[in-house]
Amino acid sequence: MIVTTADLFKLAYGNYAVGAYNINNMEQALGLFQGGIKAQAPLIIQLSKGARQYAGATMIEGIIRAAEQMYPEAVFAVHLDHGDEATCYDCIDSGFFSSVMIDASHAPFDENVATTSRVVERAHAKGLSVEAEIGQLGGVEEDIKVDEKNAHLTDPNEALMFVERSGCDSLAVAIGTSHGAYKFKGKQGLRLDRLAEIQGALRGFPLVMHGSSSVPQAEVARINAAGGKLDPSASGVQEEDFAKAVPLGVTKVNIDTDGRLVWYRVHRESFQDQPELIDFRKPGKAFVAAYSDFIVHKSQVLGCAGKLPEVRAALSGK
Ligand code: G3H
Ligand code: 13P
Ligand code: ZN
Repeated sequence: MIVTTADLFKLAYGNYAVGAYNINNMEQALGLFQGGIKAQAPLIIQLSKGARQYAGATMIEGIIRAAEQMYPEAVFAVHLDHGDEATCYDCIDSGFFSSVMIDASHAPFDENVATTSRVVERAHAKGLSVEAEIGQLGGVEEDIKVDEKNAHLTDPNEALMFVERSGCDSLAVAIGTSHGAYKFKGKQGLRLDRLAEIQGALRGFPLVMHGSSSVPQAEVARINAAGGKLDPSASGVQEEDFAKAVPLGVTKVNIDTDGRLVWYRVHRESFQDQPELIDFRKPGKAFVAAYSDFIVHKSQVLGCAGKLPEVRAALSGK
């Protein structure tokens, strides 16, 4: 059942976060739906511009629509991740998406507001909600001064002004994370103090955490043992921190890199253990099972495992 992202947020806010997973292919879709049902968790499926180009927008939409028929118990929203303005309009007009993200965070404040406002107008006219971003993800080096470090983070007062002026429905905030496998060095970690300040300015407003992969060391070690060359200093968000971020307004948690690590681990080990094999369905099946287990685990740490019956009951017939 496809639902709106806004409805998922109303049920989740303050209680749990919904995992938002980037997918690109059929195997990820199968694992995602199977995992969502096994965990009894609602899902947000994220498609990036790159994913739509890789599979083809029609193909990836077809895969998700087919999965919806195969797994009618699943409850999910479909979201454009990190959209530019043109891609947002394409997704809004497609009639398939529940929500879009307009990422104009690299632009000056007023330009970000103006671009986001235009997307909000077009999206709201068609019943979609809009995630926007303010602040700068990543780029936080351990040896720079605290003032400089904080300059990258979302400013609570700016966040409030931005939401009021742009009319966006949820906000991606920079609280120390970055995309990819190398997020923190030394004692760095999630800036829950800044998150609390942002929530203080934006009470009840859904906040989104990007760059939320945990980059498990065991996974990195297995990939490297099977021929990978990831820097062992790779590190991510502590999974215990999700439970601390939920009461501070984090309602959506974006995870892509950890899913990619599952893909690399399964395929590298498969190629290493069975060098004679030329049946790609064997590692494909192993990946679907591993990705499904991964979704179950993430749903547990995000607190959304087991919520499917109440979400379905609340949203059926809407
Ligand atoms: O934040 C970006 C996501 O990880 C999507 O990555 O643009 O390579 O599909 P992508
Ligand atoms: P990760 O790279 O930490 O998985 O973040 C993904 C993300 O934020 C997608 O928007
Ligand atoms: Zn992101």
